[in-house]
Amino acid sequence: MSGAASSAAPAGRFDNHPFIQACRGLPHDRVPVWFMRQAGRSLPEYRAIRGTGTILDAIADPDLSTEITLQPIRRYDVDAAILYSDIVVPAHAVGFGLTVTPGVGPEVERPFRHEDDLARLRPLDPEADTPYVLETVRQLVAELDRPLIGFAGAPFTVASYLIEGRPSRDYANTKAMMFANERLWHALCDRLADIAISSLQSQIDNGASAIQLFDSWAGSLSPAQYQRYVFSHSQKVMDAIADTGVPKIHFGVTTGELLPQISAVGADVVGVDWRVPLDAARERVGHGTSLQGNLDPTVVFAGAEFACEAARDVLRLNDGHPGHVFNLGHGVMPAMDPDVLTEIVKVVHEEGTVRS
Ligand code: CP3
Repeated sequence: MSGAASSAAPAGRFDNHPFIQACRGLPHDRVPVWFMRQAGRSLPEYRAIRGTGTILDAIADPDLSTEITLQPIRRYDVDAAILYSDIVVPAHAVGFGLTVTPGVGPEVERPFRHEDDLARLRPLDPEADTPYVLETVRQLVAELDRPLIGFAGAPFTVASYLIEGRPSRDYANTKAMMFANERLWHALCDRLADIAISSLQSQIDNGASAIQLFDSWAGSLSPAQYQRYVFSHSQKVMDAIADTGVPKIHFGVTTGELLPQISAVGADVVGVDWRVPLDAARERVGHGTSLQGNLDPTVVFAGAEFACEAARDVLRLNDGHPGHVFNLGHGVMPAMDPDVLTEIVKVVHEEGTVRS
């Protein structure tokens, strides 16, 4: 992309920050790093203030959500904050009927199965339906001295929760609907794309400096399936916010075979999991697209020495390319030792070099 942020983008404030520069593939002086799920149960300070309600209750409290978002910034000195929220918040806010069960994930009372269920997904009006999310974004933007990443779930991954009713291994119901009732599938994804667009646009309007579209489970699809059933919907989301000028990150797990498509929907940055070496990923996404990743999260369990050596391997494979945002290949897990993550951030900041 050109890097010319539109005047509508309050994000311009961090245009020279290494994270934003890396997203745009422009030269900068150190490799930026943040971690997916950097906030959350791995942090004792999170467990201390999170309370006993569901995560949806915590997200509805802007003071609490602001504090939770800031905790990993203070602890790790990562280069970007990510809004503490969840990909199912918009569907919850329009009244679809779901909760997020601790230790399980999103669970739906009545899964999406029929044409009639479309009526349960009216358009999202972010100011009216999720005022608490926008208040959190505004508080964060006022307090942060670095970029805030806003996010949304991509149509496929959100649809998978609404259709399966709970986290799934095989996405059997989701794929059955896609194959057997293609018209309903596209109608569902079209609504979810509109909801993601409204949500992302409102986060950007309130000061988010970048966005990430999470299509975490897209790797369950073949390239042909992705192309036929998913591509146009995620592309619609990316296209709709392209004018804002903020960098757009697109992420999924086990997407090695899909990387060219994950990029082609309109991403400035493609999230890569640990299964694909960064140099191979770069060939697959093509020039002009930055990469985010891709340390295997489980190395954290092997202790600081091993994890830091693995982080150096990621830096070596990137070979100083300016279009690299260091991250894990997927999220921080609750049992991880935060001190190991602190050491990884130090290695990336002290040893990561960027070619000009
Ligand atoms: O720090 C951050 O990354 C920001 C916050 C964030 C959360 N969820 C908070 C959360 C983000 C970006 C998400 C996105 C999300 N939610 C995704 C995409 C990212 C990914 O991991 O691929 C997905 C698939 C979901 C759905 C979801 N929500 C799951 C699978 C779970 C885990 C269930 C569990 O308890 O293990 C949640 C709940 C959730 N979302 C937690 C957090 C910190 C943990 C539960 C809690 O504290 O109550």
